[in-house]
Amino acid sequence: MKNMFIEEIVGKVGEEVELYGWVDSKRDHKKIVFIDLRDRTGVVQIVGGEEFKQLSSEDVIYIKGLVKKRPEKLVNPKIKTGTVEIEAKELKILGKSKVLPLPVNTEGYDIDEEVRLKYRYLDLRRPRMTRNIILRSKLIRLVREHLTKKGFIEIETPLLTKSTPEGSRDFLVPSRLHPGKFYALPQSPQQYKQLLMTAGFERYFQIARCIRDEDSRADRGFEHTQIDIEMSFVEREDVMKMDEELITSVVEEMGYKIKQKPFPMITYQESMKKYGADKFDMRTEEDKKNGILAFAWVIDFPFFEKTDTGGWTFTHNPFSAPLPKYKEQLLKKENIGGILTSQYDLVCNGYEVGGGSIRGHEPQTLQAVFEIMGYKKEEIVQKFGHMLEAFEYGTPPHGGLAHGIERLLMTILNEKYLREVVAFPMTSGGHTSVMDAPSEVSDDQLKEVGLKIRK
Ligand code: AMO
Repeated sequence: MKNMFIEEIVGKVGEEVELYGWVDSKRDHKKIVFIDLRDRTGVVQIVGGEEFKQLSSEDVIYIKGLVKKRPEKLVNPKIKTGTVEIEAKELKILGKSKVLPLPVNTEGYDIDEEVRLKYRYLDLRRPRMTRNIILRSKLIRLVREHLTKKGFIEIETPLLTKSTPEGSRDFLVPSRLHPGKFYALPQSPQQYKQLLMTAGFERYFQIARCIRDEDSRADRGFEHTQIDIEMSFVEREDVMKMDEELITSVVEEMGYKIKQKPFPMITYQESMKKYGADKFDMRTEEDKKNGILAFAWVIDFPFFEKTDTGGWTFTHNPFSAPLPKYKEQLLKKENIGGILTSQYDLVCNGYEVGGGSIRGHEPQTLQAVFEIMGYKKEEIVQKFGHMLEAFEYGTPPHGGLAHGIERLLMTILNEKYLREVVAFPMTSGGHTSVMDAPSEVSDDQLKEVGLKIRK
């Protein structure tokens, strides 16, 4: 078994070590051959003899060798292991490599997206991508540690579920046992996490996969992952404070700087007036150069907006409560355009990296929201009867929020595209990496789920 990563050898001068990794590059100096050996932690120079001539880039090899200090003038300050090199005693080739279809020792931004994603398992060898994926793992670990310490319980919710109105189209999954019926993949765990508050868990979180059939953009895809949080017995400011502590602690632990603490807060009205949008970038050119993160809260959004057909729809989340002073108006369905919601969005460097609200935990609030949106009584019962019923059995006041992990990482790492922080993202045309989906299925599979394709 491999028991040492390349970055660890710096402290092993004078010792014999065993290393495994990929041939990053080879320099043939006749009698001596130098290679750079790479693993996910870095590269190290290996000095080998004639038998190293057979190696090609990206071969996987085993090396036994002696760790030696490099003479002062040969130290390479650009790499972590630049003060040492390995004098090889033994070499084994474990996996030969053909010439790669794309370079992996560059940043990779200039390479065609289709090629990068078709060969994603190679593209991920690129040090920038390796770093991004490792930092994603670190971010999730820090979130888990922080929330667990604060008394949150991690709970998984179903992937095969019922359609939730999160503002997008659902991905549907046909049911074999119930031909003609469909599950929907979750756009978010919104309803389940609220039901967990009814169940008494009080503080919930989940690293939740969310799936929405919306047109893809640089910062938006069919799939994303949320840090999803819900708490009972809280008011708006409590959730925002809890979240600010979480984000500050995680971001600083990862070694990044925050422009302003506590995060500035701005109303939707002011934001539109000042920035012409509800997300904005408060960094100076200097901040941008220094990788500073400028977080801010946006609050006091209108609850509803007009639809094209003259009705009303929610701006953010139909399960939200209005701000307390608008509760009467909501219940009476008066001044609809003027009702403000308890929604809070977190923006950072121009992106919306999170958002949530205090929920309407009384059945009549939720009922009124759907009535304002023009749902008929029976339709409300059919679609949301389970929520209305749950709210009749002692549901605590509650609220929460969710962060898009990709958006957070994109801002932290200063990446412009979602795909730079996802291991196997989709192409902008909606094709999966490496495996070619969506793809056709056999007639038998269609028959089994009771479907016929219309030409
Ligand atoms: P919302 O829909 O605002 O809220 O999503 C929360 C956060 O998730 C991220 N996000 C996305 N990231 C990438 N691609 C997408 N298609 C995408 N959609 C959303 C954003 C966003 O801020 N249930 C509520 C949260 C709550 O109220 O608790 C919800 O899903 O960073």
